[in-house]
Amino acid sequence: MSASLVKDVKKTFIKKFKTLPLLIFSPGRINIIGEHTDYNDGFVFPAAVDKGIAAAIQKSNSGSCTAIALDIDSTIEFELDKLKPSNEGSWENYVFGVVAEIQNRNKVVGDFNIIFKGNIPGGAGMSSSAALENSIVFGLNELFELNLTKEDMILISQKAEHNYVGVNCGIMDQYASMFGKKDHALHLDCRSIKSKPYKIDFKDHQLMLINTNVKHSLSDSAYNDRRSACERVSELLGIRALRDATEADLEKIIDKVIPANYQKALYVIQENNRTIKAAKAIKNNDLETLGALIYQSHEGLSNQYKVSCDELDYLVEQAKKNEHVLGARMMGGGFGGCTINLIAKSEAKAFAETASKAYKNKFNKVCSVYFIQLSEGTHLVR
Ligand code: GLA
Repeated sequence: MSASLVKDVKKTFIKKFKTLPLLIFSPGRINIIGEHTDYNDGFVFPAAVDKGIAAAIQKSNSGSCTAIALDIDSTIEFELDKLKPSNEGSWENYVFGVVAEIQNRNKVVGDFNIIFKGNIPGGAGMSSSAALENSIVFGLNELFELNLTKEDMILISQKAEHNYVGVNCGIMDQYASMFGKKDHALHLDCRSIKSKPYKIDFKDHQLMLINTNVKHSLSDSAYNDRRSACERVSELLGIRALRDATEADLEKIIDKVIPANYQKALYVIQENNRTIKAAKAIKNNDLETLGALIYQSHEGLSNQYKVSCDELDYLVEQAKKNEHVLGARMMGGGFGGCTINLIAKSEAKAFAETASKAYKNKFNKVCSVYFIQLSEGTHLVR
């Protein structure tokens, strides 16, 4: 799957720039549990997948840089000393942002050309943005021998997202995309930015994604609002981040917080605890418990944190009606994108069909089903 993407960008690059490029594959991610906990210094449980972005990159001697988004057949030319954020929502902000954040670290990037193509639909909640950012920073690091560590690179990608794309994201996506390990999920502590890999082999069960194929607008501002609300509650509690709070701590300031934000903070504290419990359940191969935690996560995201939408809630309801689905929830930032389902292997196809039919009837829209493999993080393709 990723091999054909790499082939495409390579072929196009050689044709256009008459030279051999470096080739990079940078994956998207899933997240088993731990949603909206990363920017609260909490735990998450992501894994890199076999879908992502392929990039071809090489130095340019034309006096300027060219970037081509092959999927949408869009080309931009730019100069390195004149970078500033483009209009909101423009794909070039990912490129400009990464370059500018490298420059901010007093590292020198020369002119370059880049062509990329991906197979994660935007808005799927599978971090095509982080995959793209990581592919650019990884490629530039190789090309110009910048001596950046992988830790440096993910912080650069994250800053690009904050300052150029305008989303105050946590570190989960960039981390998972960069550090992914084949057949493993990463139990990541977002404060220390250190993770423990867990081998994922659910025996007769598997993970399956269903993409609602919707992305409701305003999701970026809603994301930033959630983050600010969490930070305000932390401040009231006199702590660094909600990761440090218990439900009892929160109860003590109940009169000082509006009920909506109280519920949001409560969700974060509970979700963080669920993520720790999920690691234990996976270690013990206790899929019933893992599934129950996943369902609880969705309840919290939908009713307390308020980042779900009708389409996601509907797919989770369909899952609940099927005894072979042990757990299902929305995945990623929310307001659209995928649900992640923990389901019996033998029943996965049948459920995918029933859920797709029901979804079509209800919304007159098509959903997409993905069976994913857990894969390596951002890497050079030789
Ligand atoms: C987006 C952000 C992540 C994380 C998730 C929610 O994917 O980029 O940092 O906050 O939402 O868990």
